[in-house]
Amino acid sequence: MSVYSIYFSPTKSTENIVKLISNEFEEHKEIDLSVFNGDYNYSFNEDDICIIGVPSYGGRVPNIALERMKNFNANKAKAIAVVVYGNRAYDDTLLELTDFLSKQNFSCIAGITAIAEHSMMHQFAKGRPDDIDKKQLLEYTQTIISSIKNTDSLHVNSLNISGNYPYIEFKGVALKPQTNDDCSKCGVCAKLCPMGAISKENPEIIDKDKCITCMRCISICPKKAKNLDNDLLEQKAKLMEKLFAVRKENELFI
Ligand SMILES: Cc1cc2nc3c(=O)[nH]c(=O)nc-3n(C[C@H](O)[C@H](O)[C@H](O)COP(=O)(O)O)c2cc1C
Repeated sequence: MSVYSIYFSPTKSTENIVKLISNEFEEHKEIDLSVFNGDYNYSFNEDDICIIGVPSYGGRVPNIALERMKNFNANKAKAIAVVVYGNRAYDDTLLELTDFLSKQNFSCIAGITAIAEHSMMHQFAKGRPDDIDKKQLLEYTQTIISSIKNTDSLHVNSLNISGNYPYIEFKGVALKPQTNDDCSKCGVCAKLCPMGAISKENPEIIDKDKCITCMRCISICPKKAKNLDNDLLEQKAKLMEKLFAVRKENELFI
């Protein structure tokens, strides 16, 4: 049996949450779905446990994460589906992820939704996951580990996940990163962009059609030379403020 931490995580909160969970198991291997042109041809065994995390983008799974996982040969490996979101809502993200994983021949044994600081509008869910969240996520993991040991209590691919059909429409994000004069053309952003959307020859240039506004380039730039238009971002935040007002809690589906 092997345990795998698998994540699409441009700004690392999904990665950290998946690792928090997988650290409760024995040694685990990592598969980072955020690598442009990565080799995603993996085969798993029925005994394996895959903790698979994605962020919610507009209430959906980022399509690129699904595309990359289409290369997986699941062979009924057990999957714990994890959705991380920024305290607005995850809408149909966990439903879409578990539907996809079941179709891909995983045995979905649990789903977790967890809140993390919003990677675009950092004022929302600031400081989360906090100590209370982390304690709760570890308790969820222990519940899942107990149910794996007692196979009679496992509900495979029938987890009563909340969400609706058809899934909420994802219209994309109109706001795209821009480059300011501080860019030193070091190329870190071009190397690490999950979509290969930044020119390696001239990292000031971003292909807006390829970019999914995942915030990776903005979060890693050592010169803070990539940013979103602050006025537009503030307008967007103001419009959405009410949707973030109440603290959302993590959830376990098992
Ligand atoms: C393009 C985009 C769309 C997002 N859509 C949602 C959303 O619909 N609901 C929500 O609560 N948070 C949303 N968020 C916030 C992220 O889900 C959250 O910050 C997550 O922790 C980011 O994961 P990462 O750090 O692994 O990249 C969105 C963030 C981005 C960049």
